Amino acid sequence: MGGRDQRPDPARRPAGEIHRDKMACLGELTVGIAHELNNTVGYIASNLNTLGRYTDSLRRLVDRVDGHLKPDAAARWHSELAEARWEQVDRDLAQLLEETREGADHLKRVVADLKALARPTPTSESVSLDQCVEGGLTILTHALKHRYQVERHLAAPRLLNVIRPQVMQVAINLIHNALQAQPNGGHLRISTVDDGEYATLLVDDAGPGVPPDKVTKVFEPYYTTKPSGTGLGLAIAAQVVRSHGGDLTVSPSDLGGARFAASFSGLLHPRAETMCLYDPDEVAQ
Ligand SMILES: Nc1ncnc2c1ncn2[C@@H]1O[C@H](COP(=O)(O)OP(=O)(O)OP(=O)(O)O)[C@@H](O)[C@H]1O
Ligand SMILES: [Mg+2]
Repeated sequence: MGGRDQRPDPARRPAGEIHRDKMACLGELTVGIAHELNNTVGYIASNLNTLGRYTDSLRRLVDRVDGHLKPDAAARWHSELAEARWEQVDRDLAQLLEETREGADHLKRVVADLKALARPTPTSESVSLDQCVEGGLTILTHALKHRYQVERHLAAPRLLNVIRPQVMQVAINLIHNALQAQPNGGHLRISTVDDGEYATLLVDDAGPGVPPDKVTKVFEPYYTTKPSGTGLGLAIAAQVVRSHGGDLTVSPSDLGGARFAASFSGLLHPRAETMCLYDPDEVAQ
């Protein structure tokens, strides 16, 4: 793996600055999009409820028609119903409504998680590692849907004092790397464990793994082996994890690729809320 190992260049803008600009831009965009999506999903959900009530009334009406008909008319009515495949339509209607409701609920969760991720002023919250990981997974639903076998074992429900969007970002960065390590699909395991002191996120993949001589290098800002990578994902994740009193490590995975382990103590660095968010320059120092 030959990385684009970048040495400091005076003409280059500091990594923290680039990243802060990117996050500010993303934050603004996200807030706008989330607002639009929220409104739209709001009336979709409300219309679906009305549709559900109306179809129930229609179903009851259709069921009652029989009682008002003479035998020959009833027979014609039944053959009309059969011709229109009413039984199947009735069944499908219920299922379609249910699936669409689930879609709308999912969209609501995505919007809520996106908003949490883009929260402009990061403040600490009492939230579990599992909740943060679930938030990250919701955002990555689409990317994970196809071609990947994804195992989830979330077992860290203890409430921690963390900056939620940052912990979500760690989960997203690690999972995203695991996906990119297997561009044609593969196997991922996302698990959390808690030993009472540290809650730890483990992301295992079946990709090529990290070569032993690169296990430190991968955490350096700008180190990337991807044509369009910034090389900041792991540097940012490492900084976030450290400011949460934990550690980010890489080791070989039993799945054949890499295992990244991000531990969180739940004890925030005293400056965590005020220090420059995701500032890889601080990591580099
Ligand atoms: N799961 C993994 N398997 C194998 N190599 C990995 C894995 N995760 C990271 N790496 C290596 O570490 C490098 C640095 O990762 P990092 O997330 O910091 O940056 P990036 O993914 O290249 O770019 P960015 O995250 O900014 O899009 C990657 O380019 C890759 O070579
Ligand atoms: Mg990355």
